[in-house]
Amino acid sequence: MEWIVGVCVVMSMFLMSWWILCGKNDEDAVAKVNVPKGNSGWPLIGETLDFIASCYTSTPVSFLEKRKSLYGEVFKTCILGSNVIVSTDPEVNKVVLQNQAGNFVPAYPKSIRELMGEQSILKMNGTMHKKVHTLIAGFLRSPQLKARISTDIQHTVKQCLASWKPHHPIYVQDQVKKITFPVLIKVLMSVGPGEDLDFLHREFAEFIKGLICLPLKFPGTRLYKSLKAKDRMVKMVRKIVDERKKIVKDSNADDDGDAVNDVVDALLREKGDSNYSSRLSTEMISQNIIEMMIPGEETLPTAMTIALKFLSDSPLALSKLQEENMELKRLKTNGSDDYAWTDYMSLPFTQNVISETLRMANIVNGIWRKSVNDIEVKGYLIPKHWNVMASLTSVHMDDKNYENPFEFNPWRWEKIGVVAGNNYFTPFGGGHRLCPGLELSRLELSIFLHHLVTTYSWVAERDEIIYFPTVKMKRKLPISVQPIH
Ligand code: HEM
Repeated sequence: MEWIVGVCVVMSMFLMSWWILCGKNDEDAVAKVNVPKGNSGWPLIGETLDFIASCYTSTPVSFLEKRKSLYGEVFKTCILGSNVIVSTDPEVNKVVLQNQAGNFVPAYPKSIRELMGEQSILKMNGTMHKKVHTLIAGFLRSPQLKARISTDIQHTVKQCLASWKPHHPIYVQDQVKKITFPVLIKVLMSVGPGEDLDFLHREFAEFIKGLICLPLKFPGTRLYKSLKAKDRMVKMVRKIVDERKKIVKDSNADDDGDAVNDVVDALLREKGDSNYSSRLSTEMISQNIIEMMIPGEETLPTAMTIALKFLSDSPLALSKLQEENMELKRLKTNGSDDYAWTDYMSLPFTQNVISETLRMANIVNGIWRKSVNDIEVKGYLIPKHWNVMASLTSVHMDDKNYENPFEFNPWRWEKIGVVAGNNYFTPFGGGHRLCPGLELSRLELSIFLHHLVTTYSWVAERDEIIYFPTVKMKRKLPISVQPIH
């Protein structure tokens, strides 16, 4: 008898949890028409196992494709502990990304939310978000920064490539981080090579281990250790911000664009009520500098690594890329002229290789938001408080949008071109949250590819891309290089 009661209790708890996690919103939605169709999957886990399994195949988009064929372009599912409406429709994605009426707010897993401060650019909304985003994007996109940082990128890339030994395995995924991290730290707070940079590198590695983990916060847990690493970094950044504040105040240089050397300066130039006192507090700036390392550091090295992977598998594209870049190198060597950032960005095929890499790599596979109201989009009802995932991958890999979408074909961009506001190509997101690092990323990729293909030829070992929890190479992409004479 007791065991029957026990089983009943366990089953009721199980069903209750299912109802809370996946079922409650279904019920809210029943009365309404046009809530996207779909399946909530198994109790507690929903369709998470299917989702993760597809990420370990060469076609992670299969999870989405299967549901799209069953329920339509917008459907509901339950993954990673959340009910979510998934959109594979470029027009619905546009509405979610543009967020004109302020109906959507960012939605991240709990562990990520815990790691971000309350005033993080990744979390904030409305006027404050607009202000901080504009300051950061304005600085990162400025020609002054690009001119200055190109020299640093060039130097760092050359230094990294010079350390590669012929006939020794080189793990590209690790190597490119030696380029992107110093550049990012320079852009954020002007810290150059040395002890401070090493300290930040170590602590950041500890910090990001907590991005995807159980959201338990007490001594010994992963999240706790990550938060401690963040505290140590913030302490260091706080000192930099305070020192810089004094300089700004003393020089009263806030109108002088040239005085803005990094993101710290850009945020300090935010005008408060008085002329040079910033409305953004030291704490807020310091936290945001650390938090900007999250989208800045994981994405770009992945793009560089995967570009190299795609090129290794596409000899024709590699040879055309090499030809274009050798031509620039010859011009520069004969004219003994320094490279300008515009030289790198003016190579059309190189830009096409970058676009094609970003389309196929889908480093950010989807944008997660939460609805703050009942919203109707294109005949679908998105109920209040539901998670929405605007899938970028499914749009980039749909044969309605791209012919032979699984083929690496940089030439396709000669016809399409990269047009701002294009709903079919959104590797950097869109709307108010369009990645402020877009142009810097393209520049860094261009400089890396230029020096790589004009310095070495290489043979890549067999390796595969995996898509969970983040996009990366299974074996870190080992290659063996040979200098080009
Ligand atoms: C290939 C490289 C990169 C890709 C594919 C990428 C992609 C993205 C995407 C899709 C978003 C939008 C997220 C959303 O709407 O929720 C985003 C936002 C952001 N990215 Fe990037 N990113 C890259 C590089 C960078 C770099 C190098 C930086 C820093 C220098 C950076 C800084 C940011 C920041 C601060 C945001 C948040 C913007 C906001 O919410 O207002 N990203 N990125």
